[in-house]
Amino acid sequence: MRSLSQQTVLITGASSGIGEATVRRLVRAGANVALTARRAERLTALCAEIDPAGKQTLALAGDVTNEADRKHWLEATVQRFGRIDALVNNAGYGQRGPIEQVALEAIRRNFETNVFALLGMTQLVAPLMRAQGEGRIVNIGSVAGRVARPMSSVYDATKHAVEAFTDGLRGELKPFGIDVVLVRPGFILTEFVGTADRVSTEAVSNPGAYAAYVESFKGGARKLHRIAGRPDDIARLVERALAARHPKTHYAAPKHAKAILFLKWALPVKALDWLVRLKK
Ligand SMILES: NC(=O)c1ccc[n+]([C@@H]2O[C@H](COP(=O)([O-])OP(=O)(O)OC[C@H]3O[C@@H](n4cnc5c(N)ncnc54)[C@H](OP(=O)(O)O)[C@@H]3O)[C@@H](O)[C@H]2O)c1
Repeated sequence: MRSLSQQTVLITGASSGIGEATVRRLVRAGANVALTARRAERLTALCAEIDPAGKQTLALAGDVTNEADRKHWLEATVQRFGRIDALVNNAGYGQRGPIEQVALEAIRRNFETNVFALLGMTQLVAPLMRAQGEGRIVNIGSVAGRVARPMSSVYDATKHAVEAFTDGLRGELKPFGIDVVLVRPGFILTEFVGTADRVSTEAVSNPGAYAAYVESFKGGARKLHRIAGRPDDIARLVERALAARHPKTHYAAPKHAKAILFLKWALPVKALDWLVRLKK
């Protein structure tokens, strides 16, 4: 694998949070970066700030769930930089609410963004990377990909799917010189919670029998702010995964994420259920 300063990286979800922090790090490290997200103005503002000469960045607006947009991103990146060394599948959001209250359409939408779009991007870059004889794919999963919680199981299931696909792909692509890496963030202060609140309004606004649980979930989310990490905690891991000669298969941060993963490994299921339970 080339050194990071010689790599071209295509990243989804670059308009805020973890994606934006990652772009900042990768550009500082000298990589060429193709940034994608729906909010074009955010992407162009970021490029103007960190790469005023416009040498290292390419802002590509679009929706990751749209196949034509994905194809355009790939073609435009190759046209501009000549190749794609790494793909960072980062775009995603969280649908909340008790399963009974979440419309199936909303569940499908969350899987479209977090899972099917990630697979679509992977299917596009894999042939290119195979032809190059090397490449790296970094999927942004979550500790929620190991531990599913009440009121959040839709999102958590999408991240469980990302875990499984990452594990399978790792073996499929390794013979072609392509490393597939999973990064598992814990709770990170980004626009994630605001977006989750917005897309989940319908599911939680008439909670019916679940009213007390929905309230207790809000309280729990507030407490989490005390231990929250920053986007750069995860950007640092992505940079490490791209720069390493032999990357680890899994990375996690901040500390509470590692603690949760340890508890998942160490505790019986019922003990874990008790820890993540909702209090009435
Ligand atoms: N924050 C956390 O606590 C946390 C924890 C574990 C895992 N994660 C994961 O980390 C990743 C990044 O999230 P974040 O925390 O940085 O949240 P964020 O600040 O809300 O960023 C999400 C990014 O995804 C993009 N995105 C969402 N839907 C999209 C779509 N349909 N098409 C194109 N881009 C789309 C957004 O861009 P536009 O809206 O401009 O399109 C934005 O750039 C996600 O996969 C999330 O699941 C976050």
